[in-house]
Amino acid sequence: MHYTIDGLKLNCETLGPERGEPILLIHGFPLSGAMWRPLAELLRDDFRLIIPDLRGFGVSEASDDASMARYADDCAALLDAVGERRPVAVAGMSMGGYIAFEFLRRARARVSSLVLVDTRPGADGEEARQGRFATAGKVLAQGSAVVADAMAEKLFAPGAPADLKKHWRDAMAGANPRGVAAALKAMARRADSSPDLKRIDVPALIIVGRHDAITPPAESEAMHRAIRGSTLETIPDAGHMAPVEQPRIVADALRRFLPSR
Ligand code: MLT
Repeated sequence: MHYTIDGLKLNCETLGPERGEPILLIHGFPLSGAMWRPLAELLRDDFRLIIPDLRGFGVSEASDDASMARYADDCAALLDAVGERRPVAVAGMSMGGYIAFEFLRRARARVSSLVLVDTRPGADGEEARQGRFATAGKVLAQGSAVVADAMAEKLFAPGAPADLKKHWRDAMAGANPRGVAAALKAMARRADSSPDLKRIDVPALIIVGRHDAITPPAESEAMHRAIRGSTLETIPDAGHMAPVEQPRIVADALRRFLPSR
């Protein structure tokens, strides 16, 4: 369903009983809310799932300007739009995790817990930042296949089915170049959330695929040490797309962590 937020039509799906414990699921780059579908099928009987397509992704309209703050504010506005006033579990995968850190800084009272999936707290170094700006230019000139081809092989654990890889390569290649370019620049400019880790005062679950080649398990282990009382779940036979590759194991980890009503 579309909602007009900040002058853009943004898509946000809600699944599950309204009284269920609410979970905001923020997708990674350059994906869409569709990445949560296999996990959502396993959780929708018991939780209220709120699944946006970020601006410029999925079937949401794009803007040329994006930032972690804007994405986080869009998510907060979408929570209002779907009538969710309770604090929510904020779950972010990779770029979604960068947004989750920003959401926590901007709207602490709306967060009941954090779920950090295949992500990292640190900002880009100078070389990575310049690389992102260059890639943004290429995407605008040549299309999103530039990013899809670069990322496709790194997303999954060795041995992942070829049809799964092809499905997600094609989905990424079909992403809106304006949205992809804006996100690349937004990630390049994102803040370093590492200093915040020791101040996180909500329950935190960290999930990482054992074979994640983009945000490797060592980064999640370091986050686990830095966030007091956090729980770390390392998912076997999964790479960067743990919720897509092993939805059952990830769903079980979420059920252990979150109360259900
Ligand atoms: C993602 O999966 O969201 C991206 O790999 C994050 C990034 O490029 O830093």
